[in-house]
Amino acid sequence: MENWESYMAARAALEWQIELGADEAIGDAPVDRYAKTPEPEPAAEAEPVQSVRQNDAHPDPVEVARRAAAAANGLEGLRAAIAAFEGCELKRGARNLVFSDGDPAARVMIVGEAPGRDEDLSGRPFVGRAGQLLDRMLGAIGLDREGTGSVYITNVLPWRPPQNREPRPDEIAMMLPFVERHVTLADPEILILMGNVSCQAMLGRKGITRLRGQWSEAVGRPALPMFHPAYLLRNPAAKREAWADLLSLRARLA
Ligand code: URA
Repeated sequence: MENWESYMAARAALEWQIELGADEAIGDAPVDRYAKTPEPEPAAEAEPVQSVRQNDAHPDPVEVARRAAAAANGLEGLRAAIAAFEGCELKRGARNLVFSDGDPAARVMIVGEAPGRDEDLSGRPFVGRAGQLLDRMLGAIGLDREGTGSVYITNVLPWRPPQNREPRPDEIAMMLPFVERHVTLADPEILILMGNVSCQAMLGRKGITRLRGQWSEAVGRPALPMFHPAYLLRNPAAKREAWADLLSLRARLA
């Protein structure tokens, strides 16, 4: 099982590199990555993992993110703080930082999951097929990215996970301080939590089928969990519930 998982992880990493354009092996001599490396000398006294992570050489990424997010004043400052954050591996494989789109002064802020391929290429959230469906859903209740009934859009993760894989809990945890600061700075009246990852991050709960449509609270304001548009593309029958949730949002805004 362990071998199978490490095989799949190595394969995903390789596919990701190929997608990034690294389709040629370079180096004259073959390198045996499976060769046994000599055992390191045992340290005089082994340090507990926790204290190693949190010393100056290996700071705890969640703590670094918390401090950087708290120090950011204004949305441009926050974007710069995220761009300078080195704690998340996803940054190294992404083409662009995907920060936000729409009107930062909007009454409604949407928190999605993570950029996909189209978002990674363009640097804007929700521009692929799911994003186009999202625009149609918003349009149905008189909302859009600009104009009078405007919305503001961001994601829990600002960088695309390789092969669009599920964001990992540690990635969510280290980017959460930035998302929360993002909400505080934009200060919308209402949050829309698109899908499970968003609910996991902002409510600490999963299970979108039960959560959707139930008004909750996140970052000190009303938050409505909804089915993610990508899920609706795969399960068109669920559009019925999504429509009910849009009507609930419209009623709140009225
Ligand atoms: N799905 C998301 O959750 N966010 C995007 O930006 C695109 C697809």
